[in-house]
Amino acid sequence: MLQETITRDQPLQRWQDYVVPQCWEAFTDEDHAVWDLLFARQVELLGSRVVSAFFDGIDLLKLSHPGIPDVEGLNAILEPRTGWRTVAVPGLVPDDIFFAMLTERVFPVGNFIRKREQLDYLEAPDCFHDMFGHIPMLAHHDFAEMVEHVGRLGTAAIAADEGERMARIYWHSVEFGLAREGGELKILGAGLASSFGEAHFSLESDEVERLPFSVGRAVHTPYRHDAFQPRYLVSKSLERTIAHVLALTPERLLAL
Ligand SMILES: [Fe+2]
Repeated sequence: MLQETITRDQPLQRWQDYVVPQCWEAFTDEDHAVWDLLFARQVELLGSRVVSAFFDGIDLLKLSHPGIPDVEGLNAILEPRTGWRTVAVPGLVPDDIFFAMLTERVFPVGNFIRKREQLDYLEAPDCFHDMFGHIPMLAHHDFAEMVEHVGRLGTAAIAADEGERMARIYWHSVEFGLAREGGELKILGAGLASSFGEAHFSLESDEVERLPFSVGRAVHTPYRHDAFQPRYLVSKSLERTIAHVLALTPERLLAL
């Protein structure tokens, strides 16, 4: 996300304009096999490397069921639990549309999956990144509330022409955040949870900076979307990240 790949030939102003049918029936056996391969590989890799809420969500949403999940089946479990639902989109949506979706507890998921030859390379987030990386955490009640708040803050920041501030907080928490749990360093962000190479790298590389997470630091820490991050922000806990983001107001965000 946070990269504009859907071009606006005509001005589209409602997030609903970006939603497309998932067309689950159009996924081929090979597509489902790629999902299963990615899923098995990533679950084995993550093991105890990810915050426990992540696997709670995987179990609750029955994501270990073989094949690419269909959005309706996923929503049938997710929506009654936290009020979140997924919608299919053909690619990255503009930031204002993305944040508008979050304010309504709607999460966009790509309607495509990478090819077997590109297991580790992605030009744009596909349904494995979106559904495996993001959706499990949206089954966590407090995290679910935080992401809705991110949507409100992002919308307010864009209106003040300061959208990058919220993009950076989003990036350093929901996408690429690390957090301590039981004294150990764990993956929190979806970009890490869904990446084979960067999941290892973020936790184990000696070549990166790991700095304590705060919303103030996140606002002033640039990120890369074309390479592994040169620095990660580490929260004292998942709960701390949630509390700090929920305590943020649009006014304070703009003053940080
Ligand atoms: Fe993402």
